[in-house]
Amino acid sequence: MTTPTPLTQDELKALVGQAALRYVVPGDIVGVGTGSTVNKFIDALASIKSQVRGAVSSSVASTERLRAIGIPVFDANEVEQLGVYIDGADEIDGLGYMVKGGGAALTREKIVASLARQFVCIADESKRVETLGRFPLPVEVIPMAAAHIARRFATLGGQARLRLKDGQPLVTDNGQHILDVTGLHVTDPLAMESEINQWPGVLTVGIFAHQKAQVCLLGTAQGVQTLTY
Ligand code: 5RP
Repeated sequence: MTTPTPLTQDELKALVGQAALRYVVPGDIVGVGTGSTVNKFIDALASIKSQVRGAVSSSVASTERLRAIGIPVFDANEVEQLGVYIDGADEIDGLGYMVKGGGAALTREKIVASLARQFVCIADESKRVETLGRFPLPVEVIPMAAAHIARRFATLGGQARLRLKDGQPLVTDNGQHILDVTGLHVTDPLAMESEINQWPGVLTVGIFAHQKAQVCLLGTAQGVQTLTY
């Protein structure tokens, strides 16, 4: 008897991207996140695009991908509420709290998530953690405040690094910069999100606790697990 080959991370992402289709209500506008897992969801969405009224997107990259498959993209200001927001995560814990922003789209992701009644996180099992903080915490900052914010993280035991692209500071869709902070143990995600949000110059901290997931579709070797919080 041959042992089945384990699914690759890419295949697990495709599996959860496909599984997320069941949360898309025909005729509704869907909130769409950013990243390689969401790209699989957008690819899957193409198969039911005639049933989708449109999307509100969390990044220029996702907008382009959605438009390429013929899904209309609405401005967030045109929409009062969304039924569902579907997005990946860099980490998710046992309560549905997440770290996000590995793709630098955290600010728009939080805005679109806040418009939705339900956040459905799609992730492969490598993203599941006991305590947030293994993945460097992304923080979108106003450039003139970056050094000061980095010093404030040092007082919490964190080391903040400016994210670079092609040797230059990465510039987000909002024209700002990203600090990636290592060395933090996010034992109280709600409190830490609230605290860092107060620091002048912080646009968005990548802790999604106030905007946590209600559902996680987790891609595992045994198939897609549906976790609810
Ligand atoms: C982008 C994000 C993504 O959801 C996160 O980085 C996960 O990405 P991927 O699906 O590529 O692993 O927060 O800002």
